[in-house]
Amino acid sequence: AMERTFAMIKPDGVKRGLTAELLTRIQRKGYRVVGLKQFVISRELAENHYGEHKERPFFGELVNFITSGPVVAIALEGENAISGWRGMMGATNPANAAPGTIRADYATSTGENVTHGSDSPESAERELGLFFKPEELL
Ligand code: CMP
Repeated sequence: AMERTFAMIKPDGVKRGLTAELLTRIQRKGYRVVGLKQFVISRELAENHYGEHKERPFFGELVNFITSGPVVAIALEGENAISGWRGMMGATNPANAAPGTIRADYATSTGENVTHGSDSPESAERELGLFFKPEELL
């Protein structure tokens, strides 16, 4: 099915200058970029976005990291974009990420793993709503 999903280049990816490379991969795959902006996430937005991890021991560290510098928020559209983008990223822990995936190619730690992608249609809708106003999606 035609889907929209929320993708994000995390502060480590932006800091390391991977933005252009990652947008190139997305566009070569054939996904349309229907929303795009670079900004520093507020603590409030970070805590909301990662609300399901609130009780995890790494929650504080996760919020500190994701607010530590600019991110690039991306709204993607394409056939099966939700699972497709997850597949391009590879496993959360880069040690388990398949060769050729973004995390295998560019990341070494579970905490700083370069990118994010919504894991279901429900979270895609929720996260796109948190990060983009309707009129920002073209
Ligand atoms: P993401 O897919 O953006 O959503 C949840 C994030 O929590 C995940 O990426 C990881 O970066 C982070 N995370 C998961 N497990 C750990 C962990 N053990 N230590 C630090 N961060 C983690």
